Amino acid sequence: MADLDLQDIHDTLVSIAFDAGRMILSANPSDIDQGTKLNSADIVTECDKAVEAHVSTTLRAKYPTYAFMGEETYQPGQKLGDEPTFIVDPIDGTTNFVHGFPHACISLGFAAGRVPTVGVVYNPYLDTLYTAIRGRGAHMTVGRSWGLGEGGKGKVSKLPLAKTPAPLGALDTALLAVEWGSSRDDDNFELKAEVFRKLCLAKTKGGAMVHSLRSLGSAALNLCAVAAGQLDLYWEGGCWAWDVCAAWTILHEAGGLMVSGNPGNWKPEIDERKYLAVRGAPSGQKEIVEEMWAIIGDKKMDYTS
Ligand code: IPD
Repeated sequence: MADLDLQDIHDTLVSIAFDAGRMILSANPSDIDQGTKLNSADIVTECDKAVEAHVSTTLRAKYPTYAFMGEETYQPGQKLGDEPTFIVDPIDGTTNFVHGFPHACISLGFAAGRVPTVGVVYNPYLDTLYTAIRGRGAHMTVGRSWGLGEGGKGKVSKLPLAKTPAPLGALDTALLAVEWGSSRDDDNFELKAEVFRKLCLAKTKGGAMVHSLRSLGSAALNLCAVAAGQLDLYWEGGCWAWDVCAAWTILHEAGGLMVSGNPGNWKPEIDERKYLAVRGAPSGQKEIVEEMWAIIGDKKMDYTS
């Protein structure tokens, strides 16, 4: 890792993110060339493929010895190794993109030794850029391509946004993100629906009575919102390394915690496809994880890559 120029990788990814943002915004939502993969809710567009081609061409030219894993060129069985690897989702939130719902991003991650190490996530609709390098903090920049902020470079904030984040309370004080995912015919779906119900149900009925659940349609942006402290938790099963790699570094650098979406595992793998993210807080992280795992109970989500 000592020989990796993480700042250069970061700067390259930021530049690519702005290129991708222009490509995403130039698509006309009423005229997007789209198809499906596993089912009608698993969507891919020509724009996803064009952005990934631009990203991989640029990265392979500049870093020819590093590996590349991208959502649209992933081959079943492709393994993520220890070598330096770019892990990329060209459009995270494709369903939002095709509906013209302005909540999607490009997610550009870099891992070394299977550890998320550099992360760049950019939502072009809100001109909001999230960035982090392991050990060097996480930042959010708003309005850089709009020329806002000092010298037109955008308004930069350190993450989390609160200078002194509040302690985490119990689940009945929390705002959570969850996602339905595109697989709807298996036990994972039944478990998710049951957990969503238990999270929302009144305490008098045995539920956790959370403030509410949000399903915003982008794993990377959900994680960035947890990093920022705008959401308390995010629970998901079924998403992939390219959905989480970039934002995982951002979450980590903002003091957040990533554990498994299945109870009991405090150290999830980057490609384990089941995650629970908790915002940074001076206390209460461990307790809220345990409360959430108790709601899930002894059933386990099972996703095979
Ligand atoms: C999806 C989104 C969604 C999550 C899915 C992902 P995509 O990514 O992140 O929020 O629930 O698991 O696959 O398909 O929009 O790149």
